[in-house]
Amino acid sequence: MKILALQGSPRPKKYTQMVLEKFLEGAVSKGAELEIIHLANKRIYPCIGCYTCWYKTPGVCIHKDDMPELLEKLKSCDVEVYATPLYTYGMTSFMKLFLERRLPLIQPYLIESDGVTTHPSRYPGKRADKMVLISVCGFPEVGHFNALVENFRLLARAGRRKLAGVLLRPGAESMLFIEKLGKKGEEVLQGFYRAGQEIVEKGEISKEVEEIVSQEWTKNRRGFQEQANLFWKIRMEHEERTSRNEENRPFEEAILEDIRILLGGMAVSLRGEAAGDIRATIQFDVTGRQAGQWYFEIADGYCAFREGKLDHPTLTIHTPSEVWVAISKGEMDGAQAFMEKKYTAEGDFGLLLRLKSLFGNNR
Ligand SMILES: Cc1cc2nc3c(=O)[nH]c(=O)nc-3n(C[C@H](O)[C@H](O)[C@H](O)COP(=O)(O)O)c2cc1C
Repeated sequence: MKILALQGSPRPKKYTQMVLEKFLEGAVSKGAELEIIHLANKRIYPCIGCYTCWYKTPGVCIHKDDMPELLEKLKSCDVEVYATPLYTYGMTSFMKLFLERRLPLIQPYLIESDGVTTHPSRYPGKRADKMVLISVCGFPEVGHFNALVENFRLLARAGRRKLAGVLLRPGAESMLFIEKLGKKGEEVLQGFYRAGQEIVEKGEISKEVEEIVSQEWTKNRRGFQEQANLFWKIRMEHEERTSRNEENRPFEEAILEDIRILLGGMAVSLRGEAAGDIRATIQFDVTGRQAGQWYFEIADGYCAFREGKLDHPTLTIHTPSEVWVAISKGEMDGAQAFMEKKYTAEGDFGLLLRLKSLFGNNR
């Protein structure tokens, strides 16, 4: 099976690429051959609707760019994979340019197929009979993809082809912290891998796998939004500090060691079922590289993360930021670090002992 993957993200190493690579790894493990085209690196001019490719030079566009070479590739693959991030509830402009410029592949005539009007192919039997859509987006809910998915369903129907799988990954920017996403993170990436295997073995992707890859990271939408807002705040601060030469780490490295994003992530990972009806506050009194005061407020199965100092917290943890960062990154064991007095605590020790079971992603 020959797979042609059209990658429509202008960011070559981000999340569309991450999930596409997993999918393709799965496909290769079952013997597929593949080619990835990064559309943002190709010269593709917009269709100007002159229809020259229909009536004057049939099958040949007026533009002289990279598109003829790509149209040839479309004529010699078995599966077309369209991987695009969600931009303004649709595909990226790179992907849109590409799709429009496929016009030379169809003929102008109108025919009826499946009860609707469409155009006949100029090269019957030469086009792949299967398409797969892969998309990622920033917002956490899968419903944001609705218009994009409908667009691809209509395209598949018009071409009398099968939309053999739809792999959607909402909340994709969270995958910067893929390690912190724990079991779900692994399940999702493994889901993309399985989807790649299924397309080769069964010619289609199962609903089960589609659901696995698109599962929401957390039911705690408010917590998700707060973490995203914190992310952007830290990004802006990092930019300012870099411009003043106070910071020399790249943002991607600095954010993974930022005590605020780590504590905020911990708050979002509160296991509602384990928390039950606990009402408690935890003060983090942080010294060292990133000193400050932050606290958790746990109530109704939700944990809020705030900056500031409480008068009477249920539990107070005094820690250097370096120690808490190391614990959060799994480089140091929390209980062991406590025994070794790398951090101290006062207040409800029962709560301290429960931290590991209350927070985390079931790793
Ligand atoms: C111009 C633009 C428009 C976007 N529109 C949406 C959108 O409508 N809904 C959404 O959830 N995310 C939206 N996003 C966020 C991207 O989908 C998200 O950052 C995704 O991870 C980008 O893919 P990449 O990581 O492969 O670059 C948009 C981003 C940009 C730059």
